[in-house]
Amino acid sequence: MSDESQRVALVTGAARGIGAATALRLAADGLAVAVVDLDEAACASTVEQIVAAGGRALAVGADVADQAQVQAAVERIAAELGAPTVLVNNAGVLRDNLLFKMSVSDWDTVMNVHLRGAFLVTQATQKYMVEQKWGRIVNLSSTSALGNRGQANYAAAKAGMQGFTKTLAIELGPFGITANAVAPGFIVTDMTAATAARVGVDFEEFQKHATAQIPVRRVGTPDDVAHTVSFLASEGAGFVSGQVIYIAGGPRD
Ligand code: NAI
Repeated sequence: MSDESQRVALVTGAARGIGAATALRLAADGLAVAVVDLDEAACASTVEQIVAAGGRALAVGADVADQAQVQAAVERIAAELGAPTVLVNNAGVLRDNLLFKMSVSDWDTVMNVHLRGAFLVTQATQKYMVEQKWGRIVNLSSTSALGNRGQANYAAAKAGMQGFTKTLAIELGPFGITANAVAPGFIVTDMTAATAARVGVDFEEFQKHATAQIPVRRVGTPDDVAHTVSFLASEGAGFVSGQVIYIAGGPRD
């Protein structure tokens, strides 16, 4: 059942981590939330938490890099939850390796999930925003966009997200739609835990090392990112567009 007065947000990669925290926050802000991730069953925990807090949410399984799955997912969300006018392109993966060891498939996977994925989901969703002459798009970039050893693929994708965002801001602005990017630094999630495991460092030690380099002397949490996304998705942020906000406890990381 859709409720005409309630805005609908679509958050990709929302089964866990930053996406889950963002979905919960947008629901707390009063939006209905489509929780999209690769496996519909994996979205259950985020949906249950939203519903338990009195909100509306829908679990949707889709690979953001697959055009047919994205199209079907967005149509289902519009039919079952309402027209999505807030979009958070958050789904992401790492395939880190030094350039000389990076496989073509590791390059392609990262490009496909981040760039092709954000392109496909945004293209399928923008028509609902254009129809309503209102929309908010927030794309996940990263401090890695500035360059990071072992992440030629990821850094290129995350820098690409910034160019994509600025172009969306220009093309969609006349329809009352803003587009911004958030660029987190070190955020404690399964993704950073997997990085610690890959380099063979205990996750607590890994965080301690990161903390020493961060001006505010702590690592980030998914809620740090969700808070900034909440601002950018809000009614009052309508004159902020095409920007990149670093969420890194300092100027970059
Ligand atoms: P995570 O690995 O905990 O969660 C990512 C989610 O995306 C997972 O639930 C995964 O199943 C989903 N996903 C992956 N490929 C997908 C696909 N093809 N279609 C649909 N869903 C897919 O990662 P985390 O840390 O929550 O990251 C979220 C976003 O924030 C990513 O874009 C990441 O690159 C970005 N980011 C994370 C930082 C960190 O320190 N954790 C720092 C900067 C950016």
